[in-house]
Amino acid sequence: MLQDLLSNNRLWAQRKVASDPGFFRRLEGQQAPDYLWIGCSDSRVPANEIVGLDPGELFVHRNVANLAPPQDANYLSVLQFAVDVLKVKHILVVGHYGCGGVAAAVDGQRRGLVDHWLHPIREIQHDHRHELEGIPVPERRLDRLTELNVIRQVRNVSSDVFVTDAWARGQALKVHGWVYSIANGLVTDLKVTVSGPE
Ligand code: CO
Repeated sequence: MLQDLLSNNRLWAQRKVASDPGFFRRLEGQQAPDYLWIGCSDSRVPANEIVGLDPGELFVHRNVANLAPPQDANYLSVLQFAVDVLKVKHILVVGHYGCGGVAAAVDGQRRGLVDHWLHPIREIQHDHRHELEGIPVPERRLDRLTELNVIRQVRNVSSDVFVTDAWARGQALKVHGWVYSIANGLVTDLKVTVSGPE
């Protein structure tokens, strides 16, 4: 099976060079993506592929349930590099319906370390319990919690000092909240875009 992956890789690289001989040489020089994608690790949500972008066009950070926790050094390092060095124009926080992370956060089962990682989602559930309890179908309730999680992470990103400092310097930067549907491959814009401190 691993041999298949390596053969796939050879074919992929050949095809890239066939359609654009300078492709890899250009990328070797530098990356200049306009977008930072913060998404879920789920194998069904391949960032570049969903939005039709090539290598070099999307800076990607993925973790379980697409969180942007202000105390996570991994996420913060990615965010600072994307904002201060790459100067991306857009940050896309992308959740997805049917997220196992969101479901695991609130199903009451114990799994270990990931329960701590997913704790922010339980807080979101608590903050919005009245709205969520009013949704009778359990799957729809999880869909809504998925959207609320994206909205909360957009708030985390847009209130981060790396982002607010960029705005104070006059840097153009927008933070968007999207949800991807595994069922039909379509992205929905939650229309919670933040483009400045106000
Ligand atoms: Co997920």
